[in-house]
Amino acid sequence: MCGIVGYVGHRSALDVVLQGLGRLEYRGYDSAGVAVLTSAGALAVTRKAGALRNLIGELDTCGRAGLSGTAGMGHTRWATHGAPTDRNAHPHRDTAGQLALVHNGIIENHVQLRAELEAGGVELISDTDSETAAHLLAAAYIACGDLPQAVQTVCRRLQGAFTLVVAHADEPDLIVAARRSSPLVLGVGNGEHFVASDVAAFIDHTRDAIELGQDQVVTITRDGYQITDFSGCPAQGTPFHVDWDLSAAEKGGYDYFMLKEIEEQPSAIANTLRGHFIDGRIVLDEQRMDIQELRDVDKVFVVACGSAYHSGMVAKYAIEHWCRLPVEVELASEFRYRDPVLDRSTLVVAISQSGETMDTLEAVRHAREQKARVLAICNTNGAQIPRESDAVLYTHAGPEIGVAATKSFLAQLAANFLVGLALAQARGTKYSDEVGREYAELEAMPAAVTQVLDTVDRVRELAGELVDAKVVLFLGRHVGFPVALEGALKLKELAYMHAEGFAAGELKHGPIALLEPNLPVVVVMPSPKGRSVLHPKLLSNIQEIRARGARTIVIAEEGDETVRPYAAHLLEVPAVPTLMQPLVSTVPLQVLAAEIARQRGYDVDKPRNLAKSVTVE
Ligand code: F6R
Repeated sequence: MCGIVGYVGHRSALDVVLQGLGRLEYRGYDSAGVAVLTSAGALAVTRKAGALRNLIGELDTCGRAGLSGTAGMGHTRWATHGAPTDRNAHPHRDTAGQLALVHNGIIENHVQLRAELEAGGVELISDTDSETAAHLLAAAYIACGDLPQAVQTVCRRLQGAFTLVVAHADEPDLIVAARRSSPLVLGVGNGEHFVASDVAAFIDHTRDAIELGQDQVVTITRDGYQITDFSGCPAQGTPFHVDWDLSAAEKGGYDYFMLKEIEEQPSAIANTLRGHFIDGRIVLDEQRMDIQELRDVDKVFVVACGSAYHSGMVAKYAIEHWCRLPVEVELASEFRYRDPVLDRSTLVVAISQSGETMDTLEAVRHAREQKARVLAICNTNGAQIPRESDAVLYTHAGPEIGVAATKSFLAQLAANFLVGLALAQARGTKYSDEVGREYAELEAMPAAVTQVLDTVDRVRELAGELVDAKVVLFLGRHVGFPVALEGALKLKELAYMHAEGFAAGELKHGPIALLEPNLPVVVVMPSPKGRSVLHPKLLSNIQEIRARGARTIVIAEEGDETVRPYAAHLLEVPAVPTLMQPLVSTVPLQVLAAEIARQRGYDVDKPRNLAKSVTVE
């Protein structure tokens, strides 16, 4: 949430910062702003409510000449405290206009700090928690005359999660940044340095990056950087090299990142599986957990939010079936508040694309405090959740810029299956040839997803028919249930339509009352073969829906002729093993949501009110 970038170097800071903000806009787009330490020795700030294009429009109208300089910072906001207005946009300044600050996170003691500042005669002009830090920093700088030291002093007073980037007119050649429980990476260039929420902000200029640790402050100049802790003691971050290609962060001819990311799903699955089956055995080589430890596990919790939670629901079916282990899937935001029973033999699998989601991070911390072992499944190298977990299995979906999860969801499913097979192998609940056969089925999934992608034109036609619908219901059973939930979530977040997913067996326990003529109901059919016991039950549901005049949109295995007479629309997916069905049946629902959103004229990549990384509770 909120994208921030800072730069000191030899180029136009405004150009570098605006380019970086363009790549960070997925983190929030309620307002945007820039501050430049100008060649004339001043601090110039421009900020504007709305998407980044509004700020650029403002700069084009008012002129950029006043923002010429080689050090600066920028911010793209996801509003927490204070409406998304010009006044609440970052950067915030002190009263003298000498210091500028951008902030990501929430300063939890802001009420107390504001009262203290106001009692001291300071007039705050925004409704944000962030502005309090700007005034505190100005006072601390006056007291000590050293910007890094002022930042350390103020950080010790702040509660909550925050990343700050700070500049002062009296320090024209440096930018100081700090972090606690909120992301911050340093980009190391040649005669230039960067700080940002995400490497995407600076990969046009350097791929050498350093992940800052918890409670660290970094000062960047043109020629170097210095890292300390909040007490001023020298500290070190974790260096890494950005290995993905710049094209991965660009649209590559697609109208929207999300459409490109949907198409990239076969390679997201293949890349996630690659290298994890060697000499007939599942190898989780990125994990730091001894595989033998998996043998002692007697209970699994899966914790995650949103789409990642839906992927975790699928993990439950796979792990229970393959490993005969009890699995509980829990929303991370609920997990730690209900005192779950955890101990050394509990494995907690924390799933997060961003690796930053605050609820999931706090669930990880809670699990580790209770001595449970935590395995993170994450798409973002070096993010906070894998750093704080005992082990990590990375999904290799590449950067996901569209706010709605697509390729990361399918990659999470693939990773979940790997964890299930690793557990089955370690616990001996499957023979190695059985593990090999399941892995071979997984390896065939990219081709199956490609086959689905080849037929999505039919989904686009269907979208045209549903574009004016007010409500859409989704039903599924077994692994089709999380698919129904995911399909509904995609439609809500992208097309702003009321969409609900239900376990099909619950239809008669309430949701059936919602049925009325023409109401679209999407039904995810199980395979007629694998789980034939459920197939006839869903077929009955479809007939119950039709009997009430509702419109049935059925996702079914190709060749399943039994559903054809009852489906107003039939979307066929290839036959795959039962547990892996979500890998194919989710895809038409992603396309359906994106296409309805597009036809309704919405920005598919940046749905209203959402942000890609939810770094606040
Ligand atoms: C839905 C979506 C969100 C995320 C959720 C968790 O399309 O993107 O529901 O899945 O916010 O995010 P991560 O996986 O980053 O923890």
